[in-house]
Amino acid sequence: MKFTRAEALKGTVTVPGDKSISHRCIMFGALSDGTTRVTNFLKGADCLSTIQCFRKLGIRIDDTADEILIHGKGLHGLTAPGGPLDTGNSGTTTRLICGILAGQDFTTSLNGDASIQSRPMKRVMDPLSRMGARIESLRHNDCAPLLISGSPLHGIHYQSPVASAQVKSCILLAGLYADSPTSVTEPCRSRDHSEILLRHFGASVKTEGTTASIEPEPALHAQEIRVPGDISSAAYFIAAGLLVQGSEILIRNVGINPTRDGLLRVCRDMGADITLLNEDRSQGEPTADLLVRHSSLHGTTVEGALIPTLIDELPVVAALACFARGTTVIRDAQELKVKESNRIDVMVKNLSAMGAQITATKDGMIIEGGAPLHGAVIDSRLDHRIAMTFAVAALAADGETHIQGADCVRISYPGFYEDLHRLCHSSC
Ligand code: S3P
Repeated sequence: MKFTRAEALKGTVTVPGDKSISHRCIMFGALSDGTTRVTNFLKGADCLSTIQCFRKLGIRIDDTADEILIHGKGLHGLTAPGGPLDTGNSGTTTRLICGILAGQDFTTSLNGDASIQSRPMKRVMDPLSRMGARIESLRHNDCAPLLISGSPLHGIHYQSPVASAQVKSCILLAGLYADSPTSVTEPCRSRDHSEILLRHFGASVKTEGTTASIEPEPALHAQEIRVPGDISSAAYFIAAGLLVQGSEILIRNVGINPTRDGLLRVCRDMGADITLLNEDRSQGEPTADLLVRHSSLHGTTVEGALIPTLIDELPVVAALACFARGTTVIRDAQELKVKESNRIDVMVKNLSAMGAQITATKDGMIIEGGAPLHGAVIDSRLDHRIAMTFAVAALAADGETHIQGADCVRISYPGFYEDLHRLCHSSC
């Protein structure tokens, strides 16, 4: 797909529902008594993988134009699937479902695409094994395909070496089935959607500092949920609005949970003009409309506890940094290497191809801003966040940019190019 320099972006956009929350609605709804109704659900390929997995586990899920209905069967109502579960490209599906399957009384195998088969699963296999689960990497490489045999589970306290909501959530879900309380302490706090939503479904979940804990639960109860817009999807319009001269964009109903809003903090630190309007809450999750205006940016340092709050937005931060005055340093972000692609490597290669001054480090990148970018051929490596990042970078670069594998945006934002195109050609 081809992209060229854009004129001012104008208008309003409503991004699709939050991916992390959409996954969790299906999972927690499936384990609840009664029917959970979800609106503004993200119908991206990752969340559809979660739906397919739970259908295979015996849950009826109705997918209509306006809502998703999950006919939960309670904590002990899942049934053995007829064959392996396919988690597609979705790390969240793969890791969270392991915690649920560990507590069942049947054996399940699961696998995903080539990217999933190279992502580390030891981070969930270790704590689940300590809880008493039997979980095996079938190729003995600590990656999927995995075989999980449900077992009686014991509560543990787990000191996680990584700040990962996928690891934390997997352990908390297994904790629902354990014979005593379970807790997880992280080096710094990762997104807390599981804690917020599990409480909504009736679980006893506590958070203290960087520790989350859960009591074994006899039952979860169905809920009505309206999913807020995904800040990780809004990120591309925020970046486009900041970079393209004369732009002014209103992004409606965006989730601004403080464990997810690091991009807003970093952009403001770089001199961005972003105003929050109509602040509200939906099922414990804060939301706002974001008014973004073209801004002149300067470099910054992104590190430490901020990293988990914008882990998926770091590619777009790297792109913004190319257009900012001075140096931007991203550090403490080694997790980028084990996402859908190695995002340090892919960002450095592709931004260098566009003329950026960028160097990879062991745990991040250093970018010398200000060198004008030019079009290039971009290998997305089928990573949705990379494709969207370069579609935006191309709008502020000279010449033509070709993005290979551009279709991969269907993972988290099927209508992304249409929405971007509309903002680029809107006159109001
Ligand atoms: C997610 C957590 C993050 C994030 C991923 C979604 C989640 O991964 O990168 O896209 O829904 O819990 P980690 O928690 O492993 O960093």
